[in-house]
Amino acid sequence: MKLVLIGCPGAGKGTQAKVLSEHFHLAHISTGDLLRDQVKSGTPLGLKLKTIMESGGLVSDEIVSQLLRQRIAEDDCKNGYILDGYPRNVSQAEGLDDIVGSLDKVVLIEVPDEAIIERMSGRRSCPVCGAMYHVKNNPPKTEGVCDKCGGGLVARSDDNPETVKHRLDVFHSQTAPVIDYYDKKGLVLKIDGTKDIDVISGELIEILEKL
Ligand code: AP5
Repeated sequence: MKLVLIGCPGAGKGTQAKVLSEHFHLAHISTGDLLRDQVKSGTPLGLKLKTIMESGGLVSDEIVSQLLRQRIAEDDCKNGYILDGYPRNVSQAEGLDDIVGSLDKVVLIEVPDEAIIERMSGRRSCPVCGAMYHVKNNPPKTEGVCDKCGGGLVARSDDNPETVKHRLDVFHSQTAPVIDYYDKKGLVLKIDGTKDIDVISGELIEILEKL
């Protein structure tokens, strides 16, 4: 199965991708994570990416598409994968057709902008194992500590309200047309992303199991 998860920043793409990848044994490919790995490497490219990502803008199509091609070629993608954060504009969507051929579904997780700023300011993630939390909606058992591996939880540098507003603008101007692109192909499955995390996962699993 090949899925795309699409939605504004903080819609819950990463959260749901983790659940679905475990349930369906699919690789979870987050282009944001691939880019953050480059930033961590401290190379000149990584430093350039850091500046773009901290501004909330999009990284160039060439760089992201190359990272994606390399990732999809890895062994764990043979059984299928979930793309989280790609494509981000129509040019990437057209390029994706060449990279993966056909997709099975494009899941659109819908959340109004008003709910997003609060979600993002409360997001915490584990830099060791990648687990995701929210201080109110999905807290760890011990504050600041990852339930799964004991790592110290951190906030993302692009989750401050000003950058989140810019990321939402970028989503509406550049990524929203991607939804129309896939709608015309009859691939879009809309999900209400304001429901509880477990409720959304249950609905998605039930629908995707029937594909
Ligand atoms: P990326 O890492 O992809 O960020 P994003 O798309 O902005 O999405 P997020 O990861 O912020 O949110 P999410 O939808 O995954 O929500 P999450 O599950 O974490 O990209 C970062 C940057 O990299 C971009 O700005 C860009 O610069 C660059 N980039 C990446 N891909 C690119 C591309 N293809 N082209 C060019 N540039 C690219 O949830 C958020 C919080 O809400 C968590 O705390 C979670 O616990 C909580 N939560 C989740 N679901 C619910 C719920 N149902 N109810 C209540 N709380 C919830």
